[in-house]
Amino acid sequence: MEKAWWKESVVYQIYPRSFKDSNGDGIGDLNGITEKLDYLKELGIDVIWLSPVYQSPNDDNGYDISDYRKIMTEFGTMEDFDRMLAAAHDRGIKIVMDLVVNHTSDEHPWFVESRKSKDNPYRDYYIWRPAKDGKEPNNWGSCFSGSAWKYDPETEMYFLHLFSKKQPDLNWDNPKVRDEVYDMMNWWLDKGVDGFRMDVISLISKDPDFPDGKPGINGYASFNEPANGPHVHEYLQEMRRRVLDGRDTLTVGECSGVTLEEAKKYARNDGRELNMVFQFEHMDVDADGSNKWSDKKMDLRDLKEIMTKWEKGLEDTAWNSLFWENHDQPRSVSRFGNDDGKYREKSAKMLATCLHMMQGTPYVYQGEELGMTNVPFRDISDFRDLDSINAYHELVGQGVFTEEEMMRYLRYKSRDNARTPFQWDDSENAGFTTGTPWIMVNPNYTEINAAEQMGRADSVFNYYKELIRLRKTNDVIVYGTYELLLPDDKELYVYERRLGEKKLLVICNFYGNNRKFTLPEGWDSDRLSVMIGNYSDAQPAAEMDIRPYEAVVLEAED
Ligand code: GLC
Ligand code: CA
Repeated sequence: MEKAWWKESVVYQIYPRSFKDSNGDGIGDLNGITEKLDYLKELGIDVIWLSPVYQSPNDDNGYDISDYRKIMTEFGTMEDFDRMLAAAHDRGIKIVMDLVVNHTSDEHPWFVESRKSKDNPYRDYYIWRPAKDGKEPNNWGSCFSGSAWKYDPETEMYFLHLFSKKQPDLNWDNPKVRDEVYDMMNWWLDKGVDGFRMDVISLISKDPDFPDGKPGINGYASFNEPANGPHVHEYLQEMRRRVLDGRDTLTVGECSGVTLEEAKKYARNDGRELNMVFQFEHMDVDADGSNKWSDKKMDLRDLKEIMTKWEKGLEDTAWNSLFWENHDQPRSVSRFGNDDGKYREKSAKMLATCLHMMQGTPYVYQGEELGMTNVPFRDISDFRDLDSINAYHELVGQGVFTEEEMMRYLRYKSRDNARTPFQWDDSENAGFTTGTPWIMVNPNYTEINAAEQMGRADSVFNYYKELIRLRKTNDVIVYGTYELLLPDDKELYVYERRLGEKKLLVICNFYGNNRKFTLPEGWDSDRLSVMIGNYSDAQPAAEMDIRPYEAVVLEAED
């Protein structure tokens, strides 16, 4: 398998609004990130993925961009950005930008022009359609509730917005739009950034027939309906030629609605499109059919099946990205682990082990390395995320769920669970700000915070640090093959990694029961040693007792 630095890296995602506030306005900022680079250096990560920092009216916290070449006023200035980039590079840390080009803000000058008249030079930068039978052109829904079409009285036509009404979709079939995007990408790369995480890139090419899709619980088809459209690969190959070829970047496409076959095209080793994609099948493992608003717990066998399908499916042909969390997902320890006091740290370490020992590039979302948890939001007024707020009003309004049900689902699944301030220490507001934070701080910060964990050898933080270090010194973790064992076991996730003579056995207990585990054939307990584990006294044995939420990695030479 061909080696590459981005296969050997660990990426850390920063959600700037919630990371560190340097000037007391309650909003995280670039100078706050610069202040905390030594913390990230200590953790050992190689790359930062920075959620959007561009000028934005913040309808969707920066994912609605009104100027791609300016920094959001609240986050600082371009000088602050340059200083942060240089300081990161000084520490050997790369910075990957979020590239949000499926849509812009409706306050972007292109859209301001586009909506003015049908013959405006920018008209074709966006997707305009006439009414069909006096209604929306089709039944596509917005990701954030309601129809994906908004009627604009100015020209009496609808524009498409797969996300909020303030995020009109760009028309990628227009070569001028693609030129603008490539110019902008080259501008950032010339500045020295190290690559891009491409927001919903699987959605950029729409079927020109705009066919209806299957309606979901709110009556609209999924925003994912246009995923993997007719020209998406052609456009990404063009982007490769016009922007990325000859540059040493990391590219990862956020590919909602991607299938394994499509992923092989996006992320194939031939380097014609992207280095890797984010797939989301494992994020649906606890959905209720196609509806994410539920508090159903997953069946571990489903998770194993999905992860294994991707591990095996991309082996040798493409490359996986590995994640349990990001800014759109709740906290993994509350979702797949156990956030009750007793097992919070054990289960956070177990989840980390299970993910970081797989083949692919691991992504750590800010606070995951502390085992930060979901948030005890009191009522709907505590939420800031438009997805959560809109879904609440829509689904309660339609009588699909009661208020109580919807609040329960939001506490479990809302994106705001991952967006509360980073917990730096046990001082007021978790050391995030001296002002009033833009969203509530999780009250458990007095117990869960970075200062406490950095000073304690057996903390979640130090466990992550060790996992990251091991990846740097063991090729088998990066490049080894993956094989699932015990697919039908409901509690244990067990898999092997092999590279040449080296082999690893990864054993993770996802539940609070004590379990017996028999070493599989070909594994001799006398020749095994423990590489890492979340119980300090774990020992290899032919018959092992696996404790609640235990994770242990056994290592051997064949
Ligand atoms: C992506 C982002 C999400 C955003 C959406 C629209 O899914 O990760 O946060 O709301 O795209 O840009
Ligand atoms: Ca600030």
